[in-house]
Amino acid sequence: MKGIILAGGNGTRLYPITKSLSKQLLPIYDKPMIYYPLSTIMLAGIREILIISNPEYIDMYKRLLNDGSHLGLKIDYEIQEKPRGLADALNVGEDFIGKDSVCLILGDNVFYGQGFGPKLQKASEVERGAVIFGYYVTNPSEFGVVEFDEQGNVLSLEEKPSKPKSNYAIPGLYFYDNSVIEKAKNLKPSARGELEITDLNREYLKEQQLRIELLGRGFAWLDTGTYDGLANAADFVRTIQKRTGLYIACLEEIAYRNKWITKEELIKLGKEYEKTEYGQYILRFASDMN
Ligand code: DAU
Repeated sequence: MKGIILAGGNGTRLYPITKSLSKQLLPIYDKPMIYYPLSTIMLAGIREILIISNPEYIDMYKRLLNDGSHLGLKIDYEIQEKPRGLADALNVGEDFIGKDSVCLILGDNVFYGQGFGPKLQKASEVERGAVIFGYYVTNPSEFGVVEFDEQGNVLSLEEKPSKPKSNYAIPGLYFYDNSVIEKAKNLKPSARGELEITDLNREYLKEQQLRIELLGRGFAWLDTGTYDGLANAADFVRTIQKRTGLYIACLEEIAYRNKWITKEELIKLGKEYEKTEYGQYILRFASDMN
């Protein structure tokens, strides 16, 4: 399975912060936002990753993450010329996906919760169909919304409905089989002129090939779309890290735990950031692993 992180868009809801900056590079406490979705993809066990962003920002991502080899990853980059919609990521990423299945994550989606790794690994085993997630929220009208029956069968999907049929929002994390390429090609732009991810998921629903996994109340799916959302996400990360002493989205730690880099490589990476708490955490983790 391959992974795509969609990190484009205009970020207009965060102006003026994002007038000259890519939203997914903004800090969430001590790391750039993209670290969080990247950590999610890595937890799923995925090593071949495509980052998609706007022409003016793509070099910034390259400077940050390079070819990914320092983390045992292979990172490629593609440009999305215009924000044509989330499902457009599958068109932009067609050659990268090739004959594989793919996980798409939005570059502004932050997850945290116990047992997330195994849940992701299970979803990444999908050979046929698609897997999406459901998360209870009080403001479903702001998201894609999924309705399902008691057996967990998906009944309907709607994008930002004014009268939502359930309180379950669909987070920006999707697992697809290879048929997603053809499905994405056949999509027509919505009334707002975008290729909608919800329309794509509905194609799987029509074929009865859409599975939903619920993220329970112990899970955090954080909003980064508003000033307050950003500040709250930073507070959340800071609080958890200070309280537990364990970091959220430390890429070097995940790479080492996944056995993608050696202890020596881990220490070398920690030393690069030695002056920061982030670097010191990596070095402490490396010495605890003795
Ligand atoms: O966050 C989850 C929600 O994401 C889902 O529940 C919705 O079903 C889904 O449509 C999406 O809703 P948003 O309103 O958050 O989508 P937005 O247009 O803000 O785009 C999400 C991110 O993707 C954002 O960081 C910008 C980036 N993006 C967006 C578009 C339309 C791109 O990189 N390219 C694009 O063409």
